[in-house]
Amino acid sequence: MADDRLISPEWQEQEDYPEGSLRPLYLDDYIGQDKVKENIRVFISAARERNESLDHVLLSGPPGLGKTTLASIVANEIGKPIRKTSGPAIERPGDLAAILTNLEPGEILFIDEIHRLNRTVEEVLYPAMEDYVIDIVIGKGPAARTLRLDLPPFTLIGATTRPGLLSSPLRDRFGISCRLDYYTEEDLTKIITRAAGILNISIDPEGAAEIARRSRGTPRVANRLLKRVRDYAMVKADARITKEVADQALRMMEIDEWGLDMVDRMILEAIIHKFQGGPVGLETLAAAVSEEQDTLTDVYEPYLLKMGLIQKTPRGRIATELAYQHLGLKSPRSLESGGLFAWDEE
Ligand code: ADE
Repeated sequence: MADDRLISPEWQEQEDYPEGSLRPLYLDDYIGQDKVKENIRVFISAARERNESLDHVLLSGPPGLGKTTLASIVANEIGKPIRKTSGPAIERPGDLAAILTNLEPGEILFIDEIHRLNRTVEEVLYPAMEDYVIDIVIGKGPAARTLRLDLPPFTLIGATTRPGLLSSPLRDRFGISCRLDYYTEEDLTKIITRAAGILNISIDPEGAAEIARRSRGTPRVANRLLKRVRDYAMVKADARITKEVADQALRMMEIDEWGLDMVDRMILEAIIHKFQGGPVGLETLAAAVSEEQDTLTDVYEPYLLKMGLIQKTPRGRIATELAYQHLGLKSPRSLESGGLFAWDEE
């Protein structure tokens, strides 16, 4: 279901980037995430000065914030090729061995969703990351022999939405770890303005700010909304995106003032109406809103948590006072305190 949503931060290369890439190619064009950018810049310069390959990098954070973009930027900055794959795509140790033995010296290997690598594959990665070697087992039973193969020096860039799920031996082998956070409205406004320039879309600064405000801190969402608002502007207005046009278009798409869409609201309403405000466990909540548990934890919850609309407790998720307010509902707590302090007013 998340894949069809307009605000879905899931990967959709074709839909997102048909007209020439909107992706920045170098650090100087990359807007926001200033601390991460600065760190990466320093580590790249130092590695270059020592004539070594860059240490392995772990990029973590919610989907759509630019982890893959940053990996490509690192490759461009150090002038080496990049090979992209993902945790679930590498099924057997042999698959990874084939990839590793074909790398060029200094090449970047990008593994998306690295928390989804299986344990046997992960074990091939440890000596590869540490000493640039892999051990291949030849034959079976008592006649089995291990053969050690040298690899060219390479840089692994791992990306994950769930750093907590990484095993500690794997996490420990990354020399550089960067956490991407949601973008500020100001940075998203710049990203939208830049994309509008590339796509030849006419937009007012207030129009860009309005889309930014409702893009849940996520460039991938911002760029997608920009395109849908452009469609609306072409059909219903004079093809120029003003604040009013952006507001009307986003309303039509049922994206509210805070950037929440129907599924976000369904989650909040389910907690409030079906589970009396919570706590409710992940499995129960996912079933109630017909979503995958992983989609809830990786895509929806981080933003609802950031906006202070839900809280996670050891017993499950609860809707906060703010969630009731946002949906225009009276919370049981406000009714309680109304009762408690009623005598004050007399
Ligand atoms: N497009 C998507 N993410 C971006 C970023 N961080 N900077 C510039 N353009 C982008």
